[in-house]
Amino acid sequence: MKKQIIAGIVITLAAAVMTPAYADVDEVAAKSLAKKSDCFKCHAVDKTKKGPSYKKIAIKYKGKADAESVLVKQITTGPKVKLEDGSEESHKIIDSQDQGAIKNLVGWILSL
Ligand code: HEC
Repeated sequence: MKKQIIAGIVITLAAAVMTPAYADVDEVAAKSLAKKSDCFKCHAVDKTKKGPSYKKIAIKYKGKADAESVLVKQITTGPKVKLEDGSEESHKIIDSQDQGAIKNLVGWILSL
């Protein structure tokens, strides 16, 4: 019986340690920046619009160490992207110079 309790505690602690750093993102701030920057015109949390859903993006980057820097680059440099309808355009650049706010938005997307 004692062993089971100890095992339970160990598992709980391990889960707490493994919770990603994104756990403390400010969701309200992230959404409001995304809204201000028209991101929701092409992205929704869980359905494909002109661009992939944020959940799909989060899955694609799950466990990738460079996820944050790749996504920050995507939304600050405006690379060419292919829309769902097959046309191409430069990706939208985020409407903010605030690195903290940009990282918070990326963290929110990755946390979905
Ligand atoms: C005109 C439509 C459009 C707008 C507006 C737009 N996006 Fe995108 N976005 C796309 C498309 C299309 C892709 C897919 C690119 C690809 O897979 O090649 C994409 C990809 C992404 C990706 C993932 C890139 C990857 O490597 O998988 C992120 C993150 C992203 N967008 C965030 C944003 C944010 C944040 C905003 C607001 C600043 C935004 N997008 C505005 C169309 C748009």
